Amino acid sequence: MRRVGRGPSRRSVIGMAAAFPAAMHGGSRKVLIAHRGASAYAPENTLPAYELAIRQGADYVEQDLQITRDGVLVCLHDVTLERTTDVREVYPDRGRSADVGGEGVRRWPVAEFTLEEIRRLDAGAWFAEKYRGTRIPTWQEAIDAIRGRAGLYPELKAPELYAKRGFRMEELVWETLRRNGLEAPGADPRTPVILQSFSADALKNMRALGCKLPMTLLIGRDARDRWFTREGLREARGFATGIGPEKSLVFRDPDVVKRAHELGLTVTVYTFRASETGAFRSVREEMAHYLYDLGVDAVFTDNPDQFPRRP
Ligand code: G3P
Ligand code: CA
Repeated sequence: MRRVGRGPSRRSVIGMAAAFPAAMHGGSRKVLIAHRGASAYAPENTLPAYELAIRQGADYVEQDLQITRDGVLVCLHDVTLERTTDVREVYPDRGRSADVGGEGVRRWPVAEFTLEEIRRLDAGAWFAEKYRGTRIPTWQEAIDAIRGRAGLYPELKAPELYAKRGFRMEELVWETLRRNGLEAPGADPRTPVILQSFSADALKNMRALGCKLPMTLLIGRDARDRWFTREGLREARGFATGIGPEKSLVFRDPDVVKRAHELGLTVTVYTFRASETGAFRSVREEMAHYLYDLGVDAVFTDNPDQFPRRP
């Protein structure tokens, strides 16, 4: 994979933040991101889920991105197709054997199917019969469906995996943004764009391509020690405008919100869903705690209709 240059200066990253006040801390408006669309109510990462998210008031609609065998960005959370499509029935002979925790399983990687093949899959019936016939959308189709009505919050999923197959996800994302005239902050005020990834390298590579959009560095449990310190946050500020920690990490260390804000980083927490509220009585109450007691700026939720908007 071609190495791309160094990240932007601190001044330029702060400039990006200033150019996008709605998502920045200090702004009073909390930000609602529909996680994979309104995925509690419609099949995740499909056009019906995105459509419902907009109707439920999402500020941004999230898309997880994968790459087909012929190099097309499509919206799907997993790197394989079997959890959310009927690929087992449509392509029974194309499963790959894999070992998961000592157990033999079969997997159908997205990267081994062309877009034309993927278009034959049903991505809705697994969720509910009424969604039978729903297809995996390309990212372009998602953009066309959402544009003008909400922001886009694409996640660069597994860029390292696709790099091994000769695809640079960062370049595909950048080309798509440019083709749609969405590559600059404020390019379409009705369709702001924030990029996100667990891969710091992917975000740095986007910066090296010239991308000045806001970017959220996702932080899972395994990456907490690296990024939650002041030093780690300072490093993140070199390329990202915000952090996106898993919610339990913020619950255990709520001061991270202050540490991030002091450095000018937004805090966007994942994932809030009515089916997993822990000690909270409802997902609305849980989101309200993070947003208004702990002071986070934004949340990813499967239940956009439960977002606790306050004037
Ligand atoms: O992108 C935020 C959140 O969606 C990260 O988790 O696994 O649902 O993509 P995941
Ligand atoms: Ca995601």
